Amino acid sequence: MTDFMNEYCMHTATCGELRRGDVGREVVLTGWAWHNRDHGGLIFIDLRDRAGYTQVVVDPDCVSADDFAKAEHLGREYVLKIAGTVRERGAEAVNPNMATGEIEVLAKSVEVLNTSVTPPFSIEDGIETDETTRMKWRYLDIRRPEMYQALHLRHTVAQAMRGALNERGFLEVETPILANSTPEGARDYIVPSRPNPGRFYALPQSPQQFKQMLMVGGIERYYQIARCFRDEDLRADRQPEFTQVDIEMGFVQGEDVMNLMEDVMAETLAAVGVEHAFPLQRMQYRESMDRFGNDRPDTRFGMELVDITDIVKDTGFKVFSSVAQSGGVVKAINAKGAGDWSRGDVEKLADIAAENGAKGMAWIAFTSDGKEKSPIIKFFSDEEFAALKEAMDVEPGDLLLFAADTYEVASAVLSALRLHMADALNVPREGHQLLWVVNFPMFRYDEDEKKYAAEHHPFTHVLDEDVDKIESDPLACGSYSYDLVMDGFEVGGGTIRIHNADEQRAVLRTCGLTDEEIDEKFGHLIHALELGAPPHGGIALGLDRLVMLLGGKASIRDVIAFPKTSSASDPMTGAPSAVTGRQLKEVNLRTL
Ligand code: AMO
Ligand code: AMP
Repeated sequence: MTDFMNEYCMHTATCGELRRGDVGREVVLTGWAWHNRDHGGLIFIDLRDRAGYTQVVVDPDCVSADDFAKAEHLGREYVLKIAGTVRERGAEAVNPNMATGEIEVLAKSVEVLNTSVTPPFSIEDGIETDETTRMKWRYLDIRRPEMYQALHLRHTVAQAMRGALNERGFLEVETPILANSTPEGARDYIVPSRPNPGRFYALPQSPQQFKQMLMVGGIERYYQIARCFRDEDLRADRQPEFTQVDIEMGFVQGEDVMNLMEDVMAETLAAVGVEHAFPLQRMQYRESMDRFGNDRPDTRFGMELVDITDIVKDTGFKVFSSVAQSGGVVKAINAKGAGDWSRGDVEKLADIAAENGAKGMAWIAFTSDGKEKSPIIKFFSDEEFAALKEAMDVEPGDLLLFAADTYEVASAVLSALRLHMADALNVPREGHQLLWVVNFPMFRYDEDEKKYAAEHHPFTHVLDEDVDKIESDPLACGSYSYDLVMDGFEVGGGTIRIHNADEQRAVLRTCGLTDEEIDEKFGHLIHALELGAPPHGGIALGLDRLVMLLGGKASIRDVIAFPKTSSASDPMTGAPSAVTGRQLKEVNLRTL
């Protein structure tokens, strides 16, 4: 904490900064009374502010009777201003667990700036209070050092990124919050327009279209720490409003954006004291799916997926051979260390497989005393079993888990089981690992909607060699795309954009829009592309996710000052709340 923390305010020192070298200094401290104790006529107060704690001693011989009486009647979280002298603690009173543990402040005056009713939970780290309570009294939660540190880390990361981008000629530009829909795969939050009855704005799912317009406008290097809004099912790594470090560059190819991002990340990690080697690995999307079953691989541990389709294509175990012979795949993982699990515990894993679409979950356990347990071994020939053991690198103590299905389902099932088993077996996953996953397919087929959808977003440039297949063979099209993955999370995603109007129309048509709908919804974009759009591309980093990982938190809610619950509400303010009939009428709405 630097000296300017003591300018423009009532105090001359923070509660975190005083050390042995300050002994003898006259100081004024302000903060919240945390612990107050009465010891043999002396009152000890642990005073807390955002910088830390300092022990204050109130001695009746050193303060007025009035001030001593105030100190005797302090409650938790009273707001205090203490003037006093820094003195050394006696050797027996030194607290090595406290940064200021070698000193204390002997009070000369005690001023109560405000009282406090009893707080609903104790303001300290590691509390067990349920999250909704913490969110309802978030300002108290934020008084906890842990929360302050999380917000400080977030600030440091954001400033490091800003600094790195500013140095490289990027312009910070704000884009509208009241906008038209920008599809990023979620539902829109919509806002009625009073002067335009029956018409609505959509809050931006991302600034995607605007940043592309800035490139057409010649800005060439843009960034924004942008709030984005997505109405989607919430999870620990998703919030309905979240923050992107949003970047766009003109006259670039994918490698340029990735190289820029690596330089920005290198400076950012250095700012928060995290070491990481650069350049980062670039893994093909297909390789990531093959080896890890998903497109955001946690590469800090093995247990990779192994394709055993060829080994089992003629096996007597019909579940495997029929899938292998009908175009499906049979894959497996080896959970080393689970070979002695009970049958019951192993079979419980089938629930995880089923949640991810599996029709069953075959398994083979190799106990550490050299036995084999499984309902399916009997179906394999000796050759098949030997080949399987070799492919799976089997040793005593291993547990093999199988998925026989389409490539997509088998990948999803084994990806989920791999992560579950890593947790269950406490597989070490220390430190951070960043990598790129590149070259995603352009489209996927959405079974629910019965149509093609863009894998990233529909503004993504299709690989040059695939452009003529956009409408004839969408699933064969690759794209210029790259996701930044950290510790098994997608922390950023970007693409090179379409800058040709015909290609943009073809992609939107493939996503199910008619030419009329394209003109209506994306006419502005098509026009811009026709009016000298430069080749351009960019990326957006999920700031909340990145800070969550760097701070070692389990949820992005822990790095957002005022997050929402899983039902997208705010227990502190009560949002969302009802509006009056008059407000509804003004915007031409009626609730059902
Ligand atoms: P994308 O949709 O991949 O790309 O989003 C970029 C990054 O934002 C983060 N993120 C979220 N974080 C918290 N809560 C959410 N609901 C949420 N959704 C996404 C992720 C993700 O990697 N316009 C493109 C970027 C581009 O092409 O430049 C976009 O928004 O970390
Ligand atoms: P069944 O012959 O259906 O009783 O299945 C025998 C074993 O194979 C059981 O352990 C099932 O859970 C498992 N199994 C069934 N279908 C699949 C599948 N598609 N992939 C992996 N294992 C399966």
